[in-house]
This record gives sequence, C-alpha cells and structure tokens, in this order.
Amino acid sequence: MLHVNENYSKIQASYLFTEIAHRVSAHQAANPDAKIIRLGIGDVTEPLCDAVVKAMHKAVDDEATRKDFHGYGPEQGYAFLREKAAKVDFQDRGIDIAADEIFVSDGAKCDCGNIQELFGHDVKIAVGDPVYPVYVDTNVMAGRTGANDGGRYAGLVYLTCDASNGFVPGPESAGGADIVYLCYPNNPTGAVATKEQLQKWVDWANANKSLILFDAAYEAFIRTPGIPHSIYECEGARSCAIEFRSYSKTAGFTGVRCGYTVVPKGLVAYAKDGSPVELRPMWTRRQTTKFNGASYITQRGAEAIYSPEGQAQTKATIDFYLENGRLMKEALSALGYEVTGGGNSPYLWVNVKGDSWEFFDKLLKKANVVTTPGAGFGRAGEGYIRISSFNSRENVLEAVERLKKVL
Ligand code: MLT
Repeated sequence: MLHVNENYSKIQASYLFTEIAHRVSAHQAANPDAKIIRLGIGDVTEPLCDAVVKAMHKAVDDEATRKDFHGYGPEQGYAFLREKAAKVDFQDRGIDIAADEIFVSDGAKCDCGNIQELFGHDVKIAVGDPVYPVYVDTNVMAGRTGANDGGRYAGLVYLTCDASNGFVPGPESAGGADIVYLCYPNNPTGAVATKEQLQKWVDWANANKSLILFDAAYEAFIRTPGIPHSIYECEGARSCAIEFRSYSKTAGFTGVRCGYTVVPKGLVAYAKDGSPVELRPMWTRRQTTKFNGASYITQRGAEAIYSPEGQAQTKATIDFYLENGRLMKEALSALGYEVTGGGNSPYLWVNVKGDSWEFFDKLLKKANVVTTPGAGFGRAGEGYIRISSFNSRENVLEAVERLKKVL
C-alpha cells in the first residue's frame, strides 16, 4: 500500500499566503473593476537597483562565451559573493564570521525550512507565537509534533509575543527547548530585539546546549543605532547559533532568489551517546546532496549589492519602503489603532481589537486592501493584522485614504 506522510494531515490545507491569494482572487473575480491594493504578503514592488541589473547583464554576457561560461558552481557558493558578504555584513561591523562559514542558497525560506533535517526527531522546538509559518510547518511535516489543538501543535513550545513583553519573549519561557527559532526584526510583528535581549538568549542557549536558529531576513531595515543586525553581535553566539540572511527584502530578490546561511566552524549538536557532532560539515553534506546552488548570474547580481553603488541604491529603496510604513503607521495611529513595527521593519502589526480574519475580510471587501490576518501566524496573532510596507507610494497613499474612509 502506498502510504502518505500523515504528518501533512496535521497542517492546514493551504499555506497562509496561498489561502489569502485564493480569497483575493475570489474577490477580484466577483468585482472585476476593483483596484485591489496588496499589502499582504511581504513581496517587494520596486525594481532591482541599477548596480545589480548591470552586474547581471554582464554575467549573462559571461555565460555567452566559452572563456567565461559557468556550469555547476562551487558547493558553498562563489567565493566572490561569500567573501563580500563576510566582509560587509560581518567583519566591517566587528563580527567574527569568515567566508567559509557562509553557504549561499536560493533564499532564506528554503534554508529555514531545510535546516531541521540536521536534527533528531525527538528534539524539542520552541517558536514565537505569532510566528512565520515556515518554522512550524516544516517541523510538523517532519513529524516533530502532535496534532493541532486550537491553533497550537502538541509538542512545540510556544513563546507568546504580545504587548506585555513588547513582542520579544525571553528565554525564561523556553522550558527545555533544544532549538529556538528567533526572527528580528520580527516577521510578523515588526518588533526589534535589543542586544541585551538577544544576549540573554545566547547565554541561555550556551548554558543549555541548545541552538538558536536566527532569521535575520529583515536586518537591512534596522535604522535605530545599537539594534543588532546579527545574532553574532552577541558574545558566545558562534557556539550556539545559525543565522539566515536574505537578499529578498534587502535588494528586491524575491523573484531572483538568493540568500545565505551562516554555520560557524565549531558549532555542534550531540549524538545519542553525548559526543559532539559539528553542524557545518553536516549542512555541507545536506546541501551538496539536495541543492545545486544559486545561478552564477544571480550570485553576480548579489555581489553587486556590496559595491558602494549597490549599498547606496539598496539603502534608498529600503528607506522608501520605511517611509511607506511611516505614512501608514501615522494614519492608523491617528485613527486610534495601536501599531507596533515600522521604523526598523517593513511590517506594521495593528491591534484591531477583534477577529483578525473578519477585519481582513472587511478591508478586502470595503476598501479593496489586502492585509494579513494575525491569526494566520498563530493563536497569539488573533486580534491583529499585519500590513506590509512593500508597495508604490501612490498605492500606499491611496490605501491610507481608503482606510480612513472605512475605519
Ligand atoms: C511574508 O510575507 O511573511 C514573507 O514574504 C514570506 C517570505 O518571505 O517567505
């Protein structure tokens, strides 16, 4: 008999953003003239910057010549990209990360989802609530949880992120977790963690031989000095943390696809007999078996983000999105809503004081504005919606006007 992986029956039939896309399509079909403004999924709208486009064009030309043609790339990614990432993202900030600890991939989502393959089935996983669904769903698919009961899976440790803790839970709520997923600036709440808060997690992880999986996909949005861009800014993080980086929101690569994962040398988990096993060779082994790299053209584009022009151009685009967020936060606050996020993040987390799917439907049907219902990110997300700042200024201003009318 051909059996399915029954763990799939525990998860919701469709991924959150797929469900939203279905509702939006149904609304558009019923209202063909409606001009829908999408502030739901965090997908960028501004084009790739000039430095990246030029580098990618040049790379296409390379591929057209026998001399500069590239077939399969090096397994960890091209050195030209890993060296720039190590220097600009870490070493220039005084952080000890080397190019050979960086693994280039086709994006942080895949790496965040795949990393759990390195760990035993019995490890205890802690996640925030609300949470980016990928961390949870991939562990459910792998069989590390029981059934879903009222929006929470048996066997997972949930760290409630709410106004009472400023949406940043501390390790005292982590119980005996072996692995904790942290994401700052946070998706979905837009909250940022201070160095002191992250240092507490690092100290906890080192003391408990636990591992932090740190998703830094939104670090480029940080504008407040002193807020860590990397978990490795904390003392001792090299021995307890893996970090995920993404060019999606940093440089508009949601469609191009490129990111990387940092697995420091010497970082270990443990065999059943208690002996340490290095994770970096395991991740290398996993990637070389299941992944063949981001394309040469893509990696040349990503390299260009680190040029002086690339840095200035990508910063200007992020500043543009941040201004979108500021405008929406200002309008919603004036309407009496409590809004977290924005400022150092592309996401606004709005307390709607009611059912989040109902509020989502109201904004969709009455304002033709798409948001993301907080309940889709977990039980503690109920009562909130997430608004993304990724859109044109024209659409953001129009959305603000429509929200003012409807709310
Ligand atoms: C989101 O909207 O949460 C993100 O776009 C999802 C992602 O980056 O995969």
